[in-house]
Amino acid sequence: MSFDRNIKIAPSILAADFANFGAECEAIEAQGADWVHVDVMDGHFVPNITFGPATCAAIRKHIKGVMDVHLMIAPVDPYIDAFAQAGADVITAHVEAGPHIHRTLQAIRATGAKAGVALNPGTPAEAVAHLLDLTDLICVMTVNPGFGGQKFIDMSAKIRALRSMIGDRPVHIEIDGGVDAKTAPLVAQAGADVLVAGSAVFRGGSVGDPTAYGENIRNIRAAAEGVYA
Ligand code: DX5
Ligand code: ZN
Repeated sequence: MSFDRNIKIAPSILAADFANFGAECEAIEAQGADWVHVDVMDGHFVPNITFGPATCAAIRKHIKGVMDVHLMIAPVDPYIDAFAQAGADVITAHVEAGPHIHRTLQAIRATGAKAGVALNPGTPAEAVAHLLDLTDLICVMTVNPGFGGQKFIDMSAKIRALRSMIGDRPVHIEIDGGVDAKTAPLVAQAGADVLVAGSAVFRGGSVGDPTAYGENIRNIRAAAEGVYA
Protein backbone atom coordinates (compact mmCIF):
# COMPACT_ATOMS: atom_id res chain seq x y z
CA MET A 1 0.00 0.00 0.00
CA SER A 2 1.66 3.23 -1.12
CA PHE A 3 1.15 6.59 0.60
CA ASP A 4 -0.29 9.75 -0.95
CA ARG A 5 -2.43 12.62 0.18
CA ASN A 6 -4.83 12.64 -2.77
CA ILE A 7 -8.51 12.55 -1.85
CA LYS A 8 -9.66 8.94 -1.45
CA ILE A 9 -13.32 7.94 -1.22
CA ALA A 10 -13.96 4.94 1.03
CA PRO A 11 -17.57 3.73 0.86
CA SER A 12 -18.73 2.09 4.08
CA ILE A 13 -20.46 -1.22 3.42
CA LEU A 14 -22.54 -0.58 6.53
CA ALA A 15 -24.94 1.01 4.02
CA ALA A 16 -24.72 -1.90 1.54
CA ASP A 17 -27.02 -4.92 1.17
CA PHE A 18 -25.80 -7.23 3.95
CA ALA A 19 -26.96 -10.29 1.98
CA ASN A 20 -24.79 -9.27 -0.96
CA PHE A 21 -21.47 -7.94 0.34
CA GLY A 22 -19.32 -9.56 -2.34
CA ALA A 23 -21.26 -8.05 -5.22
CA GLU A 24 -21.59 -4.70 -3.41
CA CYS A 25 -17.80 -4.46 -2.95
CA GLU A 26 -17.24 -5.25 -6.62
CA ALA A 27 -19.87 -2.69 -7.62
CA ILE A 28 -18.42 0.20 -5.60
CA GLU A 29 -14.89 -0.50 -6.84
CA ALA A 30 -16.14 -0.62 -10.43
CA GLN A 31 -17.88 2.70 -9.77
CA GLY A 32 -14.72 4.46 -8.61
CA ALA A 33 -14.26 3.72 -4.88
CA ASP A 34 -10.63 4.02 -3.77
CA TRP A 35 -10.89 2.01 -0.53
CA VAL A 36 -13.60 -0.22 0.94
CA HIS A 37 -14.44 0.71 4.55
CA VAL A 38 -15.59 -2.19 6.73
CA ASP A 39 -17.30 -1.38 10.04
CA VAL A 40 -16.93 -4.03 12.75
CA MET A 41 -19.19 -3.47 15.78
CA ASP A 42 -19.49 -5.58 18.91
CA GLY A 43 -22.60 -4.41 20.78
CA HIS A 44 -20.32 -3.47 23.68
CA PHE A 45 -18.00 -0.64 22.62
CA VAL A 46 -20.86 0.62 20.43
CA PRO A 47 -24.58 -0.10 20.74
CA ASN A 48 -24.82 -2.09 17.50
CA ILE A 49 -23.49 -5.40 16.14
CA THR A 50 -22.32 -6.06 12.59
CA PHE A 51 -19.89 -8.91 11.83
CA GLY A 52 -16.42 -10.23 12.54
CA PRO A 53 -13.27 -11.63 10.93
CA ALA A 54 -15.00 -14.48 9.03
CA THR A 55 -17.11 -11.98 7.08
CA CYS A 56 -14.03 -9.83 6.42
CA ALA A 57 -12.19 -12.87 5.05
CA ALA A 58 -15.15 -13.72 2.81
CA ILE A 59 -15.45 -10.24 1.32
CA ARG A 60 -11.67 -9.86 0.89
CA LYS A 61 -11.91 -12.04 -2.23
CA HIS A 62 -14.22 -9.44 -3.78
CA ILE A 63 -12.01 -6.39 -3.09
CA LYS A 64 -9.11 -5.59 -5.42
CA GLY A 65 -7.90 -2.50 -3.57
CA VAL A 66 -7.57 -1.48 0.05
CA MET A 67 -9.72 -3.16 2.70
CA ASP A 68 -9.99 -0.62 5.53
CA VAL A 69 -11.26 -2.31 8.69
CA HIS A 70 -12.66 -0.02 11.40
CA LEU A 71 -12.85 -1.89 14.69
CA MET A 72 -15.51 -0.55 17.04
CA ILE A 73 -14.85 -3.30 19.55
CA ALA A 74 -13.39 -3.63 23.05
CA PRO A 75 -11.12 -5.32 23.81
CA VAL A 76 -9.22 -5.09 20.51
CA ASP A 77 -5.95 -6.92 21.04
CA PRO A 78 -7.27 -10.53 21.14
CA TYR A 79 -8.75 -10.08 17.64
CA ILE A 80 -5.96 -8.24 15.78
CA ASP A 81 -4.39 -11.37 14.30
CA ALA A 82 -7.78 -12.63 13.09
CA PHE A 83 -8.50 -9.42 11.19
CA ALA A 84 -4.97 -9.36 9.75
CA GLN A 85 -5.40 -13.00 8.64
CA ALA A 86 -8.70 -11.98 7.06
CA GLY A 87 -6.70 -9.71 4.77
CA ALA A 88 -7.24 -6.24 6.22
CA ASP A 89 -4.82 -3.68 4.73
CA VAL A 90 -5.64 -1.11 7.41
CA ILE A 91 -6.81 -2.00 10.92
CA THR A 92 -8.12 0.91 12.97
CA ALA A 93 -8.73 0.76 16.71
CA HIS A 94 -10.34 3.40 18.91
CA VAL A 95 -8.24 5.30 21.43
CA GLU A 96 -11.23 4.98 23.81
CA ALA A 97 -11.40 1.18 23.52
CA GLY A 98 -8.89 0.46 26.26
CA PRO A 99 -5.93 1.71 28.30
CA HIS A 100 -3.23 0.38 25.95
CA ILE A 101 -3.74 1.93 22.51
CA HIS A 102 0.07 2.26 22.19
CA ARG A 103 0.48 -1.50 22.52
CA THR A 104 -2.48 -2.09 20.21
CA LEU A 105 -0.90 -0.01 17.42
CA GLN A 106 2.39 -1.88 17.84
CA ALA A 107 0.52 -5.18 17.62
CA ILE A 108 -1.32 -4.11 14.45
CA ARG A 109 1.93 -3.07 12.76
CA ALA A 110 3.55 -6.34 13.81
CA THR A 111 1.03 -8.18 11.62
CA GLY A 112 2.14 -6.18 8.57
CA ALA A 113 -1.14 -4.23 8.36
CA LYS A 114 -1.26 -0.43 8.51
CA ALA A 115 -2.26 0.82 11.95
CA GLY A 116 -5.09 3.32 12.35
CA VAL A 117 -6.29 5.10 15.47
CA ALA A 118 -9.82 6.50 15.71
CA LEU A 119 -11.06 9.39 17.85
CA ASN A 120 -14.66 9.77 18.98
CA PRO A 121 -16.14 13.27 18.70
CA GLY A 122 -15.54 13.94 22.41
CA THR A 123 -11.84 12.96 22.30
CA PRO A 124 -9.29 15.73 21.69
CA ALA A 125 -6.55 15.68 19.03
CA GLU A 126 -3.94 15.63 21.82
CA ALA A 127 -4.93 12.01 22.62
CA VAL A 128 -2.71 10.91 19.70
CA ALA A 129 0.22 13.27 20.39
CA HIS A 130 2.45 10.40 21.53
CA LEU A 131 1.20 7.94 18.89
CA LEU A 132 2.12 9.82 15.71
CA ASP A 133 5.12 7.64 14.88
CA LEU A 134 3.18 4.44 15.56
CA THR A 135 0.22 5.16 13.32
CA ASP A 136 -0.47 5.24 9.59
CA LEU A 137 -3.96 6.75 9.76
CA ILE A 138 -5.95 8.88 12.18
CA CYS A 139 -9.71 8.46 11.86
CA VAL A 140 -11.68 11.47 13.05
CA MET A 141 -15.25 10.43 13.84
CA THR A 142 -17.77 13.06 12.79
CA VAL A 143 -20.64 11.09 14.36
CA ASN A 144 -20.77 9.01 17.52
CA PRO A 145 -19.91 5.54 16.23
CA GLY A 146 -22.49 2.77 15.98
CA PHE A 147 -24.85 3.66 13.16
CA GLY A 148 -24.86 4.92 9.59
CA GLY A 149 -26.99 7.81 8.41
CA GLN A 150 -26.34 10.15 11.35
CA LYS A 151 -25.94 13.91 11.21
CA PHE A 152 -22.43 15.24 10.60
CA ILE A 153 -20.69 16.86 13.59
CA ASP A 154 -18.20 19.55 12.54
CA MET A 155 -14.72 18.56 13.73
CA SER A 156 -12.79 21.01 11.49
CA ALA A 157 -10.75 22.45 14.36
CA LYS A 158 -9.66 18.96 15.43
CA ILE A 159 -8.73 18.01 11.85
CA ARG A 160 -6.62 21.18 11.50
CA ALA A 161 -4.87 20.49 14.79
CA LEU A 162 -4.08 16.92 13.67
CA ARG A 163 -2.87 18.04 10.26
CA SER A 164 -0.41 20.38 11.93
CA MET A 165 0.71 17.76 14.48
CA ILE A 166 1.33 15.21 11.67
CA GLY A 167 3.63 17.54 9.73
CA ASP A 168 5.57 15.57 7.10
CA ARG A 169 4.80 12.14 8.54
CA PRO A 170 3.08 9.72 6.11
CA VAL A 171 -0.14 9.61 8.15
CA HIS A 172 -3.59 9.73 6.54
CA ILE A 173 -6.43 11.73 8.07
CA GLU A 174 -9.68 9.84 7.56
CA ILE A 175 -13.13 11.25 8.29
CA ASP A 176 -15.99 8.93 9.20
CA GLY A 177 -19.65 9.84 9.64
CA GLY A 178 -22.13 12.03 7.80
CA VAL A 179 -19.79 12.74 4.87
CA ASP A 180 -21.59 13.78 1.68
CA ALA A 181 -21.02 16.32 -1.11
CA LYS A 182 -22.02 19.15 1.29
CA THR A 183 -19.77 18.23 4.21
CA ALA A 184 -16.81 16.87 2.19
CA PRO A 185 -15.42 20.35 1.41
CA LEU A 186 -15.28 21.24 5.12
CA VAL A 187 -13.15 18.23 6.00
CA ALA A 188 -10.99 18.38 2.86
CA GLN A 189 -10.23 22.04 3.49
CA ALA A 190 -9.19 21.19 7.03
CA GLY A 191 -6.70 18.58 5.75
CA ALA A 192 -8.46 15.21 5.51
CA ASP A 193 -7.55 12.90 2.62
CA VAL A 194 -9.65 9.73 3.20
CA LEU A 195 -13.40 10.30 3.20
CA VAL A 196 -15.61 7.46 4.43
CA ALA A 197 -19.20 7.66 3.22
CA GLY A 198 -21.96 5.11 3.71
CA SER A 199 -25.44 6.42 3.02
CA ALA A 200 -24.19 9.17 0.69
CA VAL A 201 -22.57 6.57 -1.62
CA PHE A 202 -25.21 3.81 -1.60
CA ARG A 203 -28.20 6.19 -1.83
CA GLY A 204 -30.30 5.68 -4.95
CA GLY A 205 -28.44 2.63 -6.27
CA SER A 206 -28.38 -1.15 -5.90
CA VAL A 207 -26.19 -4.07 -6.93
CA GLY A 208 -28.44 -4.52 -9.94
CA ASP A 209 -28.23 -0.84 -10.87
CA PRO A 210 -25.08 0.67 -9.35
CA THR A 211 -24.72 3.73 -11.57
CA ALA A 212 -25.92 5.96 -8.71
CA TYR A 213 -22.97 4.72 -6.62
CA GLY A 214 -20.64 6.14 -9.26
CA GLU A 215 -22.45 9.47 -9.47
CA ASN A 216 -22.42 9.78 -5.70
CA ILE A 217 -18.71 8.97 -5.48
CA ARG A 218 -17.86 11.44 -8.24
CA ASN A 219 -19.92 14.19 -6.57
CA ILE A 220 -18.26 13.72 -3.18
CA ARG A 221 -14.80 13.59 -4.78
CA ALA A 222 -15.39 16.71 -6.87
CA ALA A 223 -16.71 18.63 -3.86
CA ALA A 224 -13.65 17.66 -1.81
CA GLU A 225 -11.04 18.17 -4.54
CA GLY A 226 -12.45 21.61 -5.30
CA VAL A 227 -11.08 22.91 -2.01
CA TYR A 228 -8.34 20.45 -1.01
CA ALA A 229 -5.08 22.25 -0.32
C1 DX5 B 1 -20.30 4.74 12.07
C2 DX5 B 1 -19.42 4.05 11.05
C3 DX5 B 1 -19.37 4.76 9.74
C4 DX5 B 1 -20.70 4.83 9.07
C5 DX5 B 1 -20.73 5.98 8.14
O1 DX5 B 1 -20.17 4.11 13.28
O2 DX5 B 1 -18.10 3.95 11.52
O3 DX5 B 1 -18.40 4.18 8.89
O4 DX5 B 1 -21.01 3.69 8.36
O5 DX5 B 1 -22.01 6.04 7.60
P1 DX5 B 1 -22.63 7.39 7.06
O6 DX5 B 1 -21.75 7.84 5.94
O7 DX5 B 1 -23.98 6.99 6.62
O8 DX5 B 1 -22.63 8.37 8.20
ZN1 ZN C 1 -16.42 3.42 10.11
